[in-house]
Amino acid sequence: EKGGYEHFMLKEIFEQTSSIHDTIRGRVSPQNKEVFLGGINDVIPKLVNARRILIIGCGTSWHAGMVGEYLFEEFARIPVEVEYASEFRYRNPVIFEDDIVLAISQSGETADTLAAIKLAKQAGATVLGICNVVGSSIPRETDAGVYTHAGPEIGVASTKAFTAQVTVLTMMAMLVGYRKGTLPKEEYHKLIDEFAHLPEKIAKILEKDQDIKELSKRYIESTNALYLGRGFLFPVALEGALKLKEISYIHAEGYPAAEMKHGPIALIDEHMPVFVAATKDKSYEKIVSNIQEVKARKGHVIAIVTEGDTVIADMADYVIEIPETLEALAPLLTVVPFQLISYYIAVLRGCNVDQPRNLAKSVTVE
Ligand code: M6R
Repeated sequence: EKGGYEHFMLKEIFEQTSSIHDTIRGRVSPQNKEVFLGGINDVIPKLVNARRILIIGCGTSWHAGMVGEYLFEEFARIPVEVEYASEFRYRNPVIFEDDIVLAISQSGETADTLAAIKLAKQAGATVLGICNVVGSSIPRETDAGVYTHAGPEIGVASTKAFTAQVTVLTMMAMLVGYRKGTLPKEEYHKLIDEFAHLPEKIAKILEKDQDIKELSKRYIESTNALYLGRGFLFPVALEGALKLKEISYIHAEGYPAAEMKHGPIALIDEHMPVFVAATKDKSYEKIVSNIQEVKARKGHVIAIVTEGDTVIADMADYVIEIPETLEALAPLLTVVPFQLISYYIAVLRGCNVDQPRNLAKSVTVE
């Protein structure tokens, strides 16, 4: 049932070439230059006119929500707040009747997310869901939603569900932005065309699997790690850090790269691996300076870069090249090497990657 892979997690990382395809199938049409999301078609006018969107989730789903914030603000110019379901529900939050509350959950059973949905409904908001497990509790509680169709995810560490969630959020933000007129037709079409290339680009990254395994060997004795990114890649840094800590038990923190100088830089010495998502985008020059700051303090830099990047290659200790894509789609590619790095570090440390200690696949307790 692991399809020849040693662990479900590795199988699920590799499945991302096809799972992304399954998520966009019948929804993104390069022929008609269209995005269509049947599950939320009726609420698109509401989304177009929304004054704000509240995104709620836990763990990896919350990270996907953070990418959603950047996407909705960029494409649709709708203010977004991303909330941990557990904080939201216990805080007496301000919810307006015209709010759109978007709950994200792989399992569809997370207790805090479910309770937050009920609260939002009571307050009269429109509640939408992005879930993977068909027929689970969250899709039953929401007014409308979109399934991620990533297939069953068995490994406790979420991998293909994350890329599927981000894919759905991207499609939603594109659709709303285009209808609203804030995402120009040309950009919209470019995104649609690029979607079709994502599976092959992920496959190209996965070809580096053995190189990544080799690289991972250097970090199995580490006790701490930092993950940095900016813009769309900041949530990817958070997700990279979560993956490492939950399966390898190495303490890791994700940070927006520019925040480093406000504290975390004090941690950097020759024992600190710093994983940086540094593909070519509008923050590129800035992230190059952040890498220099780390190197000046003898930190060990492992950077995910765009193919052909020589500038960072000259500075970093190790680079992993990934194919070029549009800035807004970069999270879908940059997260993959981070998943593999965590996987190999954990395996080489002898950890039970599919069932890490103290964790359950779905958290149905509050
Ligand atoms: O099923 P959900 O997406 O609601 O689960 C949320 C979190 O419990 C989950 O993402 C958790 O953080 C994963 N172990 C992360 O890999």
